[in-house]
Amino acid sequence: MGNLPRHIAIIMDGNGRWATERGLKRVKGHEKGAETVRTITTYASRHPEIEVLTLYAFSTENWRRPKMEVDFLMRLLASYLKKETPTYIENGVRFETIGDISRFSDNLRRQIEETKEATKRCDRLTQVLALNYGSQDEIARAAAKLCAKGGEITVESLSRSLETARFGPVDILLRTGGEQRLSNFLLWQSAYAELFFTQTLWPDFTPEELETVIEAFKKRHRRFGGV
Ligand code: IPE
Ligand code: IPE
Ligand code: MG
Repeated sequence: MGNLPRHIAIIMDGNGRWATERGLKRVKGHEKGAETVRTITTYASRHPEIEVLTLYAFSTENWRRPKMEVDFLMRLLASYLKKETPTYIENGVRFETIGDISRFSDNLRRQIEETKEATKRCDRLTQVLALNYGSQDEIARAAAKLCAKGGEITVESLSRSLETARFGPVDILLRTGGEQRLSNFLLWQSAYAELFFTQTLWPDFTPEELETVIEAFKKRHRRFGGV
């Protein structure tokens, strides 16, 4: 039997280039990218094998971008969640986040909480948005929490203390946009993830291409260190 893609994580990259190639402002690429988020999430919600879809939306390093772009992304996120909450519910998608959102505006944090609350009983798919997320930050925070409790640091205790523990290990880690790097995303959780990279820019990514990745994943031989 093939592998089951229970947890898929995606580094949604290439929005800026998608727009620039068309002579548009980078932010137009983010708008188009948000539509892809909706399409891919809906597709995943109808896929019986996928339980968790984790999407990298804003990294701890993305604050280095021009203030105008960062502000646009924050507004886009708030309006996306407000507009899409009914779609989440319709498709049985529970909305969750990882990352430190304490730096976000009150309005955005309120919207995040509202969408979480409104979708908390949805059980066909969990969509996890990584917001102001950095894997090193997550691991450091987990270790600090364990130390503060006087706990011993082991692979098991640290795994359990990670913010992402409840979503389980990553089966497929996919990056769009052509770069072949992890950019501080789910480093611990991807220890045995199958990696996929595509040249397709995120706004052009389709459910058909995701299905191609899933089919390729099912044929891979995962050994987890065994023979
Ligand atoms: C990814 O697209 C989206 C975010 C990081 C928010 P980019 O904005 O990084 O697009 P490129 O890589 O510049 O094309
Ligand atoms: C990774 O993309 C972060 C997100 C997709 C949210 P970046 O475009 O920020 O990554 P680098 O800078 O190319 O590594
Ligand atoms: Mg990029």
